[in-house]
Amino acid sequence: MNKKLQFVLIPALILVIGGAAFSFLFEDKHVAQGRKLFNRYCVPCHGPGGQGDGYNAKNLDPHARDLTDSKEQYMSKLSNKEIYEVIEKGGRGVDLSSMMPTWGLIFSEEEMWSLVAYVRTLHTYKGEKVTFDKEKPYQTTRVRVPPVQEAEFRSLMEKVTDEKKQELIDQGKELFEDFGCIACHKVGNKGGTLGPYLTRAGFMLQPQFIYRWIRNPLSFKNHTRMPNLGLSEDEALAVTLYLSTLHGPPVQLDGVTPFEEDQGVPKPAKQ
Ligand code: HEC
Ligand code: HEC
Repeated sequence: MNKKLQFVLIPALILVIGGAAFSFLFEDKHVAQGRKLFNRYCVPCHGPGGQGDGYNAKNLDPHARDLTDSKEQYMSKLSNKEIYEVIEKGGRGVDLSSMMPTWGLIFSEEEMWSLVAYVRTLHTYKGEKVTFDKEKPYQTTRVRVPPVQEAEFRSLMEKVTDEKKQELIDQGKELFEDFGCIACHKVGNKGGTLGPYLTRAGFMLQPQFIYRWIRNPLSFKNHTRMPNLGLSEDEALAVTLYLSTLHGPPVQLDGVTPFEEDQGVPKPAKQ
């Protein structure tokens, strides 16, 4: 081999091989953003590797989707837009199960596309890449919903007659399942353990707090794992009245201690 050629070829080879080996160091900025969000918000159900085996998965029916296509080809058949939509609107917004929550009211457009870009790294996909076009950039700011005032709750309550109240409680019980609250919260022995048990919500929580929290959890706690699920005033009122009727016995915590969750991904407590 020509000496000059060697001079060029060998460093080039080192670059290519080295680049491949260390490519994780140069992870795309958006994939990295998606990974970070996924680890915090999605791993409790979908599992650390996206296989649908998070600690909360056993509480879900249907199961959290295996995003790796390890058993069947499924994810690779979805378009980027379809994945975006299920994240944005949740299962109930796209005719899937409401056990998959709605994220569109808390994440920015860019964050949701970053999640799509990261989810794409979990399975083999040969289609179109998620691009973040400089010409048409995605919205980087999150939607800011103003805190809900106590007066809103009080004025709704003024219109609730005794007769109407029972109706709302029954409705609230249904909405608790329809909105997928049950995916994260246990009532009695049914439901998830991503959030606190609500079996004793009627003893533990003030109705006006429940109402204001449900309507806008992020106004209380910026990085809470509970998304804003977009309940209307009337829906939130019904769910609040239902939760206020829950006066169950003390529960033995056998899963996560919810308020320790800020130290990263919570792990089930030792038995
Ligand atoms: C409370 C549990 C839970 C959390 C948290 C959760 N998911 Fe899901 N996810 C599910 C369940 C359950 C399904 C299956 C829904 C179905 O098949 O009806 C699902 C399905 C999906 C699917 C497949 C959709 C399809 O078309 O079949 C994607 C993609 C997904 N989730 C992404 C995410 C991302 C990204 C996050 C975090 C921002 C997340 N999920 C958080 C429970 C969860
Ligand atoms: C993706 C999981 C998830 C979903 C879905 C969810 N929550 Fe939560 N919820 C949480 C977490 C986590 C907390 C703990 C708050 C924190 O400290 O971040 C919480 C807290 C709460 C609290 C306050 C409890 C307390 O002890 O302070 C109430 C009330 C509540 N959720 C009701 C609901 C209702 C009603 C719904 C359905 C409209 C719902 N949640 C849906 C995860 C969820």
